[in-house]
Amino acid sequence: MEGKLSRSAKKITSSSIQELSQLAQRCNAINLAEGFPDFPAPTHIKNAAVSAINSDFNQYRHVQGVCDHVARMVKEMHGLDIDPLTDVAICCGQSEAFAAAIFATIDPGDEVILFDPSYETYEACVTMAGGVPIHVPLDPPQWTLDSSKLLRSFTERTKAIVLNSPHNPTGKVFTKEELEIVAGECCSRNCLAITDEVYEHITYDYLKHISLASFPGMQERTVITSSLSKSFSVTGWRVGWAIAPAFLASAIRNIHARVTDCAPAPFQEAALSALRSPPEYFESLRRDYQSKRDYIIKLLAGVGFKIEFIPQGSFFLFAELPDNCSLLDVCGYFHGRGKLTYGVDLSKIRWLGVLQRISIGYFLASISEIWLVNHNISVDSPAAFVKKYFIQWMFSILLCSVYLCLLYGLYVPNWKFEHSNLLWSSRLSIIENVHCEVRGSLEPPCNAVGFIDRLILGKDHIYQRPVYRRTEECSVNSPDYGPLPPGSPGWCLAPFDPEGILSSLMAAITCFMGLQYGHIIVLLQGHKQRVLLWSVFSFCLLLVGYILEILGIPLSKALYTLSYMFISAGASGLVLTAIYYIVDIEQLRKPTILLQWMGMNALVVYALAACDIFPAVIQGFYWHSPENNLVDASEALMQTILHSEKWGTMAFVIVEILFWGLFAGFLHKKGIYIKL
Ligand SMILES: Cc1ncc(COP(=O)(O)O)c(C=O)c1O
Repeated sequence: MEGKLSRSAKKITSSSIQELSQLAQRCNAINLAEGFPDFPAPTHIKNAAVSAINSDFNQYRHVQGVCDHVARMVKEMHGLDIDPLTDVAICCGQSEAFAAAIFATIDPGDEVILFDPSYETYEACVTMAGGVPIHVPLDPPQWTLDSSKLLRSFTERTKAIVLNSPHNPTGKVFTKEELEIVAGECCSRNCLAITDEVYEHITYDYLKHISLASFPGMQERTVITSSLSKSFSVTGWRVGWAIAPAFLASAIRNIHARVTDCAPAPFQEAALSALRSPPEYFESLRRDYQSKRDYIIKLLAGVGFKIEFIPQGSFFLFAELPDNCSLLDVCGYFHGRGKLTYGVDLSKIRWLGVLQRISIGYFLASISEIWLVNHNISVDSPAAFVKKYFIQWMFSILLCSVYLCLLYGLYVPNWKFEHSNLLWSSRLSIIENVHCEVRGSLEPPCNAVGFIDRLILGKDHIYQRPVYRRTEECSVNSPDYGPLPPGSPGWCLAPFDPEGILSSLMAAITCFMGLQYGHIIVLLQGHKQRVLLWSVFSFCLLLVGYILEILGIPLSKALYTLSYMFISAGASGLVLTAIYYIVDIEQLRKPTILLQWMGMNALVVYALAACDIFPAVIQGFYWHSPENNLVDASEALMQTILHSEKWGTMAFVIVEILFWGLFAGFLHKKGIYIKL
């Protein structure tokens, strides 16, 4: 059915500005993609809109007063005499006014001159009308108009020229001399001009915006388009206008009437208030924007951006990325030409890895099993059992004591850390001071676990995605990641390694506990005795864990607290006992075959699935936009089928586990095993 799309629809691609905006929303990034003001609309015009709705101005409506005010405004600003009854067409924002002007004037094959870079909708509208955009580049860094380039771009088919001043995206305000050249060419070539003047009130350094229509011979051939959007911070209200000679304004009005009928009625009423705003309003708008412009220039220049052109109007700024800066996006890396790296900064590389805690635990447990067990003692009594493993137990008690002494006894001083506050800038950073001067704190910012990692590994070499970001204090979506709630503590952004050195010692104790389950297998032959002993041992561990928790030692995986160690060891012991019962006693092997296969290739499954390597590769391929990938689409499908986000995700995870079980089974059948 795609063939049914019209030729012009096929030529129009999705708006890159809106795609970036959606991406920014998805990444919770500062959205600099779409040009919209970030301040509230003036109260008097909001009140006017509310009162228009309350007065039931809710039907199709043409508010002639808007045209009257627009006519008065262009007279005051540019000295142009406009008949508000015939020369103004109210539209849904400048966007519709511009589109209607193009449709009113451009036939297939007509050429339309656009200055490059230009606002993205111009080219789209010209193309939709069947016109041919002809680009005339403005010369950086000052974005000057080279008249010879302009002259060369005119042909017999040139029907119109589009001029946007103050300019998006450079911040340029066309000079009188440049406008004179454009006007001269338009007149001598009998060409129309369509101007976009949405930033007419936003100019800096006492520069004045001059309308192209105000040059001799231009008013009769110019369509001025503009709107309330930028001047009053109401980009969503959709009230704009076209000012043109009566025949053209009438054509634009007719197109507007057939496409949208009218601009939103209550907001046309509110426009009356907006357009009556006193000169002081526009003066303070200019002042505010100018101080913001100066602020951002200083800030960006301070962190290495190159700014060669100081914006003269609108609210855009062209800044060149610092040489050492790469844009990092959730879906991959952007690289400057000739700067291809894998995005790994060795000065900030994380020393500890995802598997290191397990490896430390297994390593300590295995060397203790080799060296700290008295292999000459054969166990024929409980006393002999104790004697055989005594040194190993003492060693684990020693490790545990070291951990506890450090956790509760080590003095943690104040500290500070740097975090970058822009998504892609590694150099723009904020220093956060963390006040500690305590011993024994188990709170996120001042515990000894983090302190030891900072001391030994260095702040730059530990995990930078703060593990505490999912707590209620640090995420509005807790227990998931999300934006910081208002007034969140500074330490929310502090680095912390969930695989830290001190907590790994305690994780090793869990492995020592695991060894004891193995000892029971080796020393006792009967199933019943093993199951009994394991169950008692596991329940005791759980009980001790819960008692410790009640006594005030919180369950914290990040710190691997004593209570967490006991409970995780006890729970794992119970799972082992249950699986032993099912597989070895009841001989029910089929239901656990997937687990068996996974165990045979645990490293492959861990690296590909748990470390997200496989999903990341799959997600790299998508259809049209990044969220249309196989992984996200399957999860969305489950959620749709089950009518629930939670249950859908659960089903997706189960399917994932099944997939990896079968994959491991396939490797097993092929005799492929990857081990260290
Ligand atoms: C140059 C330019 N023209 C027009 C518009 C859109 O104006 P409106 O909201 O009135 O459709 C924008 C919005 O970013 C713009 O930058």
